This record gives sequence, C-alpha cells and structure tokens, in this order.
Amino acid sequence: MPSPTRIVVLISGSGTNLQSIINAIKTGAINATIVAVISNKAGVQGLERARKENIPALTVSHQQFTHREHFDQALMQKIDEYTPDLIVLAGFMRILSKDLVNHYRGKMINIHPSLLPKYQGLHTHRRALEADDRQHGCSIHFVTEELDGGPVIAQSSCEIQADDTEQTLRERVQQLEHKLYPQVIKDFCEGKITLS
Ligand code: GAR
Repeated sequence: MPSPTRIVVLISGSGTNLQSIINAIKTGAINATIVAVISNKAGVQGLERARKENIPALTVSHQQFTHREHFDQALMQKIDEYTPDLIVLAGFMRILSKDLVNHYRGKMINIHPSLLPKYQGLHTHRRALEADDRQHGCSIHFVTEELDGGPVIAQSSCEIQADDTEQTLRERVQQLEHKLYPQVIKDFCEGKITLS
C-alpha cells in the first residue's frame, strides 16, 4: 500500500466537513493522514474536533496582519512545515492571494455550497431561494486565482422544496457535502484526479 497522502485542512468555523474527512480516514476508506488543521480564527469548533483526534490544530489569525499578502505568507510558511500532498479548504472563509494559490496549484481543493458556476461568493442558499431555483447543491473544485472559479471536480445536487428556508436548505446541502468531500479526497489520494 502506498504511503498515506499528507493532508493539511484549512478551516474557519465549525468543521463538520473536516469531521466527515476524519471519519472516512478512520474507517480506512481514505489512505491519508491529516497532518495539521489550520484555522484563521481562534477558538472555533473545528480546532476542537482536530484536537480530539490528536491532530495538530493551530491558528494563524488574519487579524494579526495588516496586509493580505503578509497573512498569506505566514499561512504558506506554516502549511509548508507539514509538507502536505494535498491542501483541503473546508469552510475556509478567506480570499487567497495569487502567490499562495499558484504555490499550491493542482493540490489545493475547495468545497463551495452552490452548483458552480452559479452563486460564487456568499449567501448561496438565500440566492438560490430568491431565484426560485428548483435545484441547489455543492461543488468541489481546484483552487485557482479566480474566487470560487477553478475547475470543478465534482458536484452533488438536491431538489429545493416549496417550504425550504435558508437554514433547511443549508442543512440538506451540508449532508451532500459530507458525502462528496470524502469521495473526492479518496479519488485524489488514489491519483484519479489531477489538474492538467
Ligand atoms: C460549508 O457548507 C462549505 O460549503 C462552506 O462553508 C461551510 C463550512 O461548514 N464554504 C464556503 O462557503 C466557501 N466559499 P463546516 O465548517 O461545518 O464544514
């Protein structure tokens, strides 16, 4: 069996996607090790989830930097200390600079709660409801310079119900996320997904 893929996960919040990846690794479905979880916000639940599993969990706070580029340099330095093969953005709510994105080209992926190219940016569930869409979902894509715009690897969708609220729709899409992200990471680790 090849050596486990080294993954660094970047988060900003509750870390339910992180948990789904941890669980899939624990069951043996993915041959990988999460070598670090890094948050740009201190005290978030995702860091606790990592610590519970004895995964190094650290904060690089964007608030300590006046320039985005300086934050990104510090973040890049920290990530590189762990020599990852794959960087997984799981609810990481920062726009990344060109230098950082290019540094990890082909090995940084993100999950976004919409059927891209629809609804890049924030408030995706509200926007899908306001547009009277019949379907909504999530996308996983390679991170490139364009915000929420890199090549899409996989998508998962659900019907929008007449009585859906932003909250019920978010929850339904998150259930899809928790299945799709581990599947895509598994495929990446098995060399089935590359950016060409
Ligand atoms: C997820 O729903 C993810 O799709 C979204 O943040 C949530 C994080 O939840 N990401 C974005 O909006 C990125 N543009 P989690 O912390 O519980 O995994």
